[in-house]
Amino acid sequence: MIYYFSGTGNSRFAAQKLAVLTQDKSVNIASIYNGTVKSVEGKSDVTGFVFPVYYSGLPEMVKRFASNPQIKDNLGEYVFCVITCGGDTAAADKQLAKALGREPDLSVSLRMPDNYVIAYEPSSAEEARERLEKANAKLDKIAEAINQHGVYIRSSFKKNLVTTFMYPLYGLFRTTLLYKADSKCNGCGFCEKICPDKAIEIKNGRPVWVHKKCQHCTACINRCPQKAIQFGFSTKKRGRYYIADINKGE
Ligand SMILES: Cc1cc2nc3c(=O)[nH]c(=O)nc-3n(C[C@H](O)[C@H](O)[C@H](O)COP(=O)(O)O)c2cc1C
Ligand code: SF4
Ligand code: SF4
Repeated sequence: MIYYFSGTGNSRFAAQKLAVLTQDKSVNIASIYNGTVKSVEGKSDVTGFVFPVYYSGLPEMVKRFASNPQIKDNLGEYVFCVITCGGDTAAADKQLAKALGREPDLSVSLRMPDNYVIAYEPSSAEEARERLEKANAKLDKIAEAINQHGVYIRSSFKKNLVTTFMYPLYGLFRTTLLYKADSKCNGCGFCEKICPDKAIEIKNGRPVWVHKKCQHCTACINRCPQKAIQFGFSTKKRGRYYIADINKGE
């Protein structure tokens, strides 16, 4: 079984492609939590985790899921992780290992388009296409390695150090206080529908962030059809990234 978490589609794309190439099933962790998926029968001897790196570590939902005794006690004999990133995954795999109580047999870092519009300009359509092409080719090799139960453990002192210093920032930025919809919002409700954390509700025709913290996945900002969602003052002039927008119209 391949478990994935994804804000803007990169990790979902990777998980779904790996599921096809390894004749397994993939399931969205957020769908398990919000009850839209009850049960999925995938391979029982293989367990995969595919997700984006956040501040050099794990998305909160992935950490919570991997720490759940029901998941930890039912891992396949062979465990792998594929962590998608814009640049580098640092020691996010070590955090996963800690949550699971065991090292993944295979740990791979997969560079994909950058989606972190809050801190910088996300990948342009051209850069995103290039990165997706390379990632697509790398996924073929990763699938081969998984099919052969290949072993690859990444480790480095420097990676651990980066995660130790960067990850606490994630906790701070997960606040929902700085999200707001500007005057372009037409109340369509799409953001409420796609939020993996169910952190948004439409009240009187406007989105309201109803939890104090969220996953900080940027799906709402990147996918609002009106580009109406802002986080503080940083996102107004920036572009947006979502995987399905890249090949539109071609
Ligand atoms: C909150 C947040 C933090 C991020 N931190 C990092 C990071 O530390 N290193 C990095 O290379 N990419 C980072 N990124 C970029 C994403 O990991 C990358 O674009 C990923 O492929 C997005 O996956 P998704 O489309 O499945 O959500 C971050 C993105 C977000 C939203
Ligand atoms: S998706 Fe955008 S336009 Fe639609 S309700 Fe949310 S903020 Fe408003
Ligand atoms: S509120 Fe936005 S950034 Fe936060 S989890 Fe939901 S979709 Fe992601």
